[in-house]
Order: sequence, then C-alpha cells, then structure tokens
Amino acid sequence: MSDITKPTIFVTRRWPADAEAALSKYFTPTFNSEDVPLTTQQIADGFASHDALAPTVSDTITAEIIEAGAAGKGKFVANYGVGVNHIDIEACKAASIPVSNTPGVLTDATADITMTLMLMLARRAGEGERELRGGNWAGWRPTHLMGRQLSGKTLGIIGMGRIGKAVARRCALGFGMKVVFYNRSKVDDCADINAVQMASVVDVCAAADIVSLHCAASPDTFEIMNAAAFDAMPSDAVIINTARGDVIDESALVKALNAGSIGGAGLDVFQGEPNINPDILTAPHTVLLPHLGSATLETRTAMGLKVVDNLRAFFASEPLVDPVC
Ligand code: DGY
Repeated sequence: MSDITKPTIFVTRRWPADAEAALSKYFTPTFNSEDVPLTTQQIADGFASHDALAPTVSDTITAEIIEAGAAGKGKFVANYGVGVNHIDIEACKAASIPVSNTPGVLTDATADITMTLMLMLARRAGEGERELRGGNWAGWRPTHLMGRQLSGKTLGIIGMGRIGKAVARRCALGFGMKVVFYNRSKVDDCADINAVQMASVVDVCAAADIVSLHCAASPDTFEIMNAAAFDAMPSDAVIINTARGDVIDESALVKALNAGSIGGAGLDVFQGEPNINPDILTAPHTVLLPHLGSATLETRTAMGLKVVDNLRAFFASEPLVDPVC
C-alpha cells in the first residue's frame, strides 16, 4: 500500500520503537511527539482528521470525542491497553464506532508487579530502602524491620480472570500459599492449585492474609472494596491493587490504614490518576507505584503489536482480533 492509501491513525502517546515501526509499516500514524497528555479538544480534532484513534488509559475518551470523530473521518478506536473504562463505550456503540483492546499480552507483567507489591509489603522493602538511603541504618540486628513470609499464608483474589489466575498460580506454586477467590461467575479451571471459590468479597476478605484485586473497573465493581470489606479483613492483612483505582473506596482505605484495622496496602493504581489523594501518601504501611503493571519493554511492545493487528483486521474488513464492541 502506498502512503497515500494507508489509513491514518491518531496515536495519543509515544510507543516503544518496535511497535511504532510496525504501525508505520501498515499505516500513516500521527504520534504525540511531545508525549504529554492531550486535551479533549486535541483528541477530538485528531480523531476527526484520522481514520482511527489509538488512545491509552491516560486519556478520557468522552462522547464528545467519539461524536467529533464520527462526524469527521474517524471510524475505529483501537485501545492500547486491556482496560477500557476510560472510553465511553455507549457513545462508541451509538456512533457505530467499533473498539478493540489488547488482552492477554499484559497478564504476566501485571501478575509480576502484583508479586512485587506483595513482597515489598511483606518484607518491608520500601521502608528498608528509605532508611538506608536516608543514612539511618544502624546495622544488622535480630529484630530489625522484621516482615512476614508469604509461604503458608492465604491469598484472596477478587476477580479470577487471566491476571487473577496468573497471580494465584505464582502464589500457590511458587510461594506455597493457599488461594481463595471471589468471581461473579463460576470458575472451574483452578483445581490444580486447590483454589476455593467463595460467595462474596467480604468472605474472601475475612479469610485472606493478602487480598489482591484483579476485576475490571465497571459500574458493578465501583468501590467493590468498601468499608464493609475492609472491616472484614484481619488487622494484619494487606490489600493489593493492580486493577483500577475505582475498585477501592479510597476514603475507607485511608481510614482502615490510619486506624490500624488492616496491615497495609500495595497500590499501583489510583482514583483520578495521576492526582493521588494526599491522605494515601501519608497513610502508614503503604507501597505506592505509578501504574507500572504492564511497564516492561516486552509487554508494551506486544500491546502496540496487538493494536496493529486489530487495525489491520478492521481496515481489511475482517473480524477484530480483540473486539470490545
Ligand atoms: C491496561 O492495559 O488496562 C493497563 O492498565 C495499562 O497498563
């Protein structure tokens, strides 16, 4: 295809080099060369003047953007990422704009960052690093910064999809942990790790030493970790969130941390990112990361290649590889 006939793609951020090269092979992309957040108006103008839009989790794709795109050249939204809670899917359906995402390729990276948070919390690694860098390490002593072991503990998963299962397998097979979980529908392919499905989020919270959130953000899961769920957790149990900020009631979390009614929190995602509730920054026993779940070169490249696969399918009038709507 000559450049003149290649469909044009408006890409809201920069991608890893190999993914940008693959996109440029088949399409004429416009990348956001500054790699800074774009305004709603800039994205709307970009979509309206290109055949497709490739946004990320850091963009809010409003009905206004979708309508502007549909009124112009825009025909398709190929999301760079698996979660699509930042896209007004109803507006896409209303404008007959299909949407794709990138499931599967970020499972391992996200499961690994979950383990990172879990181990950092359990072994007090952040506290130790801050102490050492601050010049405050007084040397080895038997009671210094004692953490807890993962082996023998119970992991509670909320949302037993691909990532939940990958975390469960790491914990059961790699760390000798027991696994309980809550999932809206019945899950029956975890028998090899003896994972036990429970009836409610509160049941999981009451049974687990570590609760890890892996459900998609939706109206059904909005603040699914609420005051009742935190109240059910034992006082030394910790919560890990690598899903989306909106699945936790952050005020309830801050209250539980400050009161010592839970043992800690490891968070990679936040409500209203990148603006973090200041009370979370000052709450005790937290490990906080800037949404690094999928941030490996391998995964971020694979996510871009998936976007390319979906764009190619769309413009060849073939079924989407990863249809959302
Ligand atoms: C996703 O793909 O939804 C991730 O949160 C981005 O890392």
